Amino acid sequence: MTMTMSAPPTAAEIAELNREYTFFDWAAQGAVNPVAVERAEGSYLYDHDGRRFLDLNAQLMNVNIGHQHPAVVEAIKAQADKLCYVNPRFASQPRGELGRELAEITPGSLCKSFFTLGGAEATDHAVKIARLATGRQKIVARRRSYHGSTYGALSLTGEARRWATEPGIPGIVRAADPYQYRCRFCSGQPQCDLRCADDIDEVLRVEGPDNVAAVIVEPIAGANGVVVPPDGYLPRVREICDEYGVLLIADEVMTGFGRTGRWFAVEHWDVEPDIMTVSKGLTSGTVPLGAVVVTDEIAHHFEDNPLWAGLTYGAHTLACAAALATIQAYRDEGIPERVVEMGELLKDEYADMSARHPSIGEARSLGLFSALELVRNRETREPLVPQIDPAFENYGVMKEMFAYMLQRGVVTMTRWNWLMVNPPLTITPEELREGLAVVNEALDLADQAMV
Ligand SMILES: Cc1ncc(COP(=O)(O)O)c(C=O)c1O
Repeated sequence: MTMTMSAPPTAAEIAELNREYTFFDWAAQGAVNPVAVERAEGSYLYDHDGRRFLDLNAQLMNVNIGHQHPAVVEAIKAQADKLCYVNPRFASQPRGELGRELAEITPGSLCKSFFTLGGAEATDHAVKIARLATGRQKIVARRRSYHGSTYGALSLTGEARRWATEPGIPGIVRAADPYQYRCRFCSGQPQCDLRCADDIDEVLRVEGPDNVAAVIVEPIAGANGVVVPPDGYLPRVREICDEYGVLLIADEVMTGFGRTGRWFAVEHWDVEPDIMTVSKGLTSGTVPLGAVVVTDEIAHHFEDNPLWAGLTYGAHTLACAAALATIQAYRDEGIPERVVEMGELLKDEYADMSARHPSIGEARSLGLFSALELVRNRETREPLVPQIDPAFENYGVMKEMFAYMLQRGVVTMTRWNWLMVNPPLTITPEELREGLAVVNEALDLADQAMV
């Protein structure tokens, strides 16, 4: 395609240029129709035609402190003027200071970080570290989980995005999920008795606990419907891991950095993992960065044993500077505390929506981490569109809802029968209400699709 460069390109021209020469994620390319974003600020994106969109999902739940946060942009510029990059075998001030910050804000004895380029590489390296530290191979991962798109991380992933990379890496075994709304253990029972956690115990015994290096969990499964576990679940999983001397890896890539109203989601249940992976909110989307944070015991192992890992762009100086400024912004703006308040507002709005829309089977949220699970029938809980299908993005009425919201100037994420609302954590009450008003209208389409 050719573009006349005299006039500024239109949104359609930029979208076409992207489509012609670049691949888009998780999609048959012919069906892709991207918004062409020229700039962004706070909670809003602007396309090349000057159209404004409220970003009701903080992009991929990562732009936690809003777009173009001035202090972070400034810190990146200042670092770029001084030093953009050094090979990760060298030391740099931002890297050291960021390691110290992470040791301070992560729970328990998590104290030392290995820096990666994003969440999937953090997953891969967490597994590698767990295997090296324990001398064991197997990893227990859950069915409804997502851990990233590299071969290792997708092999750990339980959901359908794994299928295309099968058979994947060896040594991964599956356990059940704490998905109360569709629980195969306790639905119909008066209350949850944590058999989902005990399933991990059984898997460990069947696999031979001495063969298992770690259990990996998202404290709240994110891409698979914001599944908040029952209260006793994570403490019980911790107990089971301790009983067998198996490490617990908490994948906090999506839940970290204030998203749920705490720095990290495991804090809701006072659980201390042995390894934590982080990314997304670490730099709030400004520069790619992930980290694997480990306890002092695991760190000690690598004092005398080599850490067989290295990435040319690991501990990237610009990214570390961006992360330091981002963490400072969370502190200065009291983000976790603010999210607790905004989370109450979101819950109230969801209660009103649930009263109005019979298609809402369950509204799940913790802080500003949330999803609406849409159904054909509240009694049977039949999903509004089928789950599991690998063509997960926006089909049937979900696609219509997405298009409706876009046309009304709101971007958010729909996936299978879930409508996600995970805005920047800096969103104002007015902006949140503005976005939810459009979600409310879109849900009329879901209600009509029930019959
Ligand atoms: C829980 C979780 N882990 C890992 C990842 C992978 O992160 P990235 O896309 O930065 O590789 C994601 C991405 O959505 C995630 O939600």
